[in-house]
Amino acid sequence: MKFFLDTANIDEIKRVKRLGLVNGVTTNPTIIAHEGRDFEEVIKEICSIVDGPVSAEVIGLTTEEMVEEARVLATWAPNVVVKIPMTEAGLAAVHILSKEGIKTNVTLIFTVAQGLMAAKAGATYVSPFVGRLDDIGTEGLQLIKRLKTVLSNYNYETEIITASVRNLQHVEEAAIAGADIATIPGNLFPKLWSHPLTEKGIKQFLEDWKKVPKKE
Ligand code: E4P
Repeated sequence: MKFFLDTANIDEIKRVKRLGLVNGVTTNPTIIAHEGRDFEEVIKEICSIVDGPVSAEVIGLTTEEMVEEARVLATWAPNVVVKIPMTEAGLAAVHILSKEGIKTNVTLIFTVAQGLMAAKAGATYVSPFVGRLDDIGTEGLQLIKRLKTVLSNYNYETEIITASVRNLQHVEEAAIAGADIATIPGNLFPKLWSHPLTEKGIKQFLEDWKKVPKKE
């Protein structure tokens, strides 16, 4: 499974990159706004740090606006992936961009049908949002399982990015379901490698080590 970092914070990216765990980065306008930095500057900096795909989202709502923005974003770095919202206009943009060789990540996917449409239009990635589905009382992880089955049934190359990840269970269940990628917020990542029993065990081992006779 590939891990993307769902952040534009350089310190968070560097911390996890040091562990060899970062295969890419996803951003959205909210994440960019959080950093209080220029969009182009921050995307270029992330692209220079991370070898893998870095998603940068368009703002336009018409196909023409999205395609125009996407062509500019794609010049910022070779690893930029253009994030396109899941709309009719977005699907048309994805179709045009895929023929131009520009990679896309279709975002705000909430149903299997939306994921299938995006894959068929030529999306490189689709981003089903599990956390936001949970928020409205629907089991978000079911979407990952069902969409994985559908894309596998028809051998689509489109990769599933499990997005809107809020907890450890989302990551584990997405992996069990065979999602290609989970994009994980910077503050959640440390929880993936931590466990209170690990901490307790280390403390106990160090205490017991003091009881081992040492040569003078
Ligand atoms: C990533 O591509 C998504 O934009 C992000 O995971 C959304 O997360 P949120 O639902 O917590 O805002």
